[in-house]
Amino acid sequence: MLAPLPFLPINVSEQEKKAHYQDVYNALQSLCEGETDEIAVMATIVSELHNRMPGFDWTGFYRVSGYRHLKIGPYQGGHGCLNIPFERGVCGRAASDRSTQIVRDVNKLPYHIACSASTQSEIVVPILDQHNNLHGVLDIDSDQLSHFSSIDQLWLEKIVALLKPCY
Ligand code: SME
Repeated sequence: MLAPLPFLPINVSEQEKKAHYQDVYNALQSLCEGETDEIAVMATIVSELHNRMPGFDWTGFYRVSGYRHLKIGPYQGGHGCLNIPFERGVCGRAASDRSTQIVRDVNKLPYHIACSASTQSEIVVPILDQHNNLHGVLDIDSDQLSHFSSIDQLWLEKIVALLKPCY
């Protein structure tokens, strides 16, 4: 059983945030070692991120289900919309472009889908396997404006890559 990681306060230095992400990543590597079930790894990633990272108001996966369509997967936070076509939302944009989307203020983004009125900023990371096939996205909403930066992108892409053995 891993010792619980300390919860990070909301306003920390970039150095502290990097060190905390490293701890979370190390814990997830250990927890998911040898696991090839997609849902089990997704549920573990969501649990650790949602309970260890400050300002993560909604943390969850959407999986590719059918042609250019996303279906909700494991998540934590208030209920999220169950289905998102690639043509809609920040999740759909991340899936269509196969690139990470960072939204500093969702209120200024006309195509943002608001599952909660408390959401102020968002990051969405595509799940790509070793053959660059898309399997879904990791969606994280924050109730803080401009909560996500290139540090979050770097580490969340590393964490999402822990799913590669599942595909
Ligand atoms: N905000 C997302 C939709 C998912 S709910 O936030 C959980 C989007 O615009 O795609």
